[in-house]
Amino acid sequence: MPRLVVVSNRVAVPDPEGPRQAGGLAVAVNAALKRREGIWFGWSGEISEDDNPPQVVQRRQRSFVTIDLSSTDFQEYYNGFANRVLWPILHYRVDLAEFTSVELGGYLRVNARFADALSRFIRPDDWIWVHDYHLLPLAKELRARGHDNPIGFFLHIPCPSPDILLALPQHLETVGALSHYDLVGTQTQHDADNLRQYFELQGANFARNRTYFDIEGRRVQLRAFPVAIATRVYARTARTAMRSDFANEVRDSLNGRSLILGVDRLDYSKGIPHRIQGFGQFLETFPDWRGRITYLQVTPKSRSDVPEYADINQTVNTLVGQINGRFGAPAWTPIRYVNRAYSRASLAALYRMARVGLVTPLRDGMNLVAKEFVAAQNPEDPGVLVLSQFAGAAEELGEGSILVNPHEPEAMAAAIDTALQMPLAERQSRYRRMFRHLAAHDIDRWAESFLAALMESRHTTPRILDNLRQLFAARG
Ligand code: F6P
Repeated sequence: MPRLVVVSNRVAVPDPEGPRQAGGLAVAVNAALKRREGIWFGWSGEISEDDNPPQVVQRRQRSFVTIDLSSTDFQEYYNGFANRVLWPILHYRVDLAEFTSVELGGYLRVNARFADALSRFIRPDDWIWVHDYHLLPLAKELRARGHDNPIGFFLHIPCPSPDILLALPQHLETVGALSHYDLVGTQTQHDADNLRQYFELQGANFARNRTYFDIEGRRVQLRAFPVAIATRVYARTARTAMRSDFANEVRDSLNGRSLILGVDRLDYSKGIPHRIQGFGQFLETFPDWRGRITYLQVTPKSRSDVPEYADINQTVNTLVGQINGRFGAPAWTPIRYVNRAYSRASLAALYRMARVGLVTPLRDGMNLVAKEFVAAQNPEDPGVLVLSQFAGAAEELGEGSILVNPHEPEAMAAAIDTALQMPLAERQSRYRRMFRHLAAHDIDRWAESFLAALMESRHTTPRILDNLRQLFAARG
């Protein structure tokens, strides 16, 4: 089995002393590296002006290799281009994008730095798997340094239609550079279709099955691989976590009230203000529920240096205050709003305790909270998932959840009421349908199917033929 080199902006270097907080990306990468020799390469999370060599941490057959970024690199690449240009545009928010060519320069420079630093660790027979929007041009940089390895890319966030992608200044240098990968994976078929249309506009020729395209002498496979979770492991974690002190404390504090739960990073794509307004509408339209439910919104802060994130913080605080002020009573607070991050086990307990899970982003690549919420439920007495039609997860969980348009507060209010009133038999049958799907499509299967497709890419396209074709084309 070839060695696997995984590249992502952040690297979850194992810390035996730290809490178990692995996010979706870490669970996915760990599944890919399971039973394989491998390297996980990326940013250390540290800012340093010194030209430090890469730091290497060895854990059995895996090496974790990280580099620091200078404050200018961090500002231009991470805060600037990745999170103020690519993030909003790929989440359909062209209105929030703040483009400068300096930041694009920083983004391309850091990708070149990643390629320089990674280059010396790559062996000719390694497979390389690059993750996420921070590293769109990395394959191009690695090819320029002579690496002919199979290289795959997986986009964890959405891909909008070409109408929106074309609003990205100099898109050929970023989205267009995806054509240097052998395999490009997206979260949903909808994302893959959007990217296919974008490449068709750039002159790509798609094969009849629409999964392979040729462009400038290169052949690329483009497919959807909906990211998943370790379903059965997570279900076990949730069962066990219900016996923890944390779970008992929260349960006691509810005082018999039903729990409505939201868990999201503080990000404008998550639709938290819309959700709070929907909840306010619910209390307005269905006054009988007042005092009988508690809405807990767990929202760790993120990307605090980016101005749009400071704005959303302000907006959410104001809305929570308004709803609590308007509907609260001395013995009842409708919304509990918490800005801390919790361990996987604590979150699993909260999911299992909740009667309703609100996962209502305005746009989301997948949203693993939706999948974890389902996996964590008690099969005998499961809670109900209220899910945005704009989350990637809706392609898989649309039938078992209650789908909503987060822009419609009345529909959100009605969905919460329906979820709270849903009879046990219906809750169980919806849960069973979703759990069966998640158990059959878990994270191990996701990683293996991506890697199998990467291998297939190479077998379908002997690079030598491409090179010959290019040579003949150049000679006319
Ligand atoms: O969802 C995309 C993503 O980049 C994840 O990979 C990551 O866990 C999350 O956003 C958090 O982003 P950041 O690394 O900027 O805190």
